[in-house]
Amino acid sequence: MRLLFLISALFHMTSAFTPLSSATDELQIRNKISLYAIALDTLNLTLLDEVFTSDVMINYQLPGGGVFYGLPAVKTFLVQSLTGFVTQHTLSTTLVEQTDQKGGVKSVAYLVANYIGQGNLTGSAAYIYGKYVDTWTKENDEWKIKARTLDGLPSGFTGNLAVLSAPNF
Ligand SMILES: *[C@@H]1O[C@H](CO)[C@@H](O)[C@H](O)[C@H]1NC(C)=O
Ligand SMILES: *[C@@H]1O[C@H](CO)[C@@H](O)[C@H](O)[C@H]1NC(C)=O
Repeated sequence: MRLLFLISALFHMTSAFTPLSSATDELQIRNKISLYAIALDTLNLTLLDEVFTSDVMINYQLPGGGVFYGLPAVKTFLVQSLTGFVTQHTLSTTLVEQTDQKGGVKSVAYLVANYIGQGNLTGSAAYIYGKYVDTWTKENDEWKIKARTLDGLPSGFTGNLAVLSAPNF
């Protein structure tokens, strides 16, 4: 019984939230999480060079997603999935934390990805809830994501799903 208590106390100690010691680092990381959303919604994927390492691994766990290795593969997938759509990737709750004493950093950011209906679908939208879970690394003094998982909620897309099959070319 006492042993069990000790083990559980240890678990709580090691799983405690540890903020970054540098506010500058944390701000850069938060900005880059936002830059990703702006890159997607403006379809300016050049901006992603500042967000991800060139060998990034991204696992989009949602309908139509997949696992992509390397930034070029990620960009190809994003161009295919976003061209012709008007989107807004809305980020909210964001937590940036240190994971070890060796500079390991992880972040979590909540997301609503909105697809906004155009033409005869004006007034409708389709959206999906999820969260980005990112592992960061510092490369030439710049923080970049080296691994990202987008966990979509099991509910999948909500709203008017016709918006998803009617791109505004
Ligand atoms: C995309 O972003 C880059 C970097 O900020 C900028 O130089 C470029 O002009 C942008 N391209 C477009 C089409 O807006
Ligand atoms: C809406 O517009 C699309 C593309 O212009 C067209 O293919 C479709 O038939 C229209 N749907 C309705 C219900 O008018």
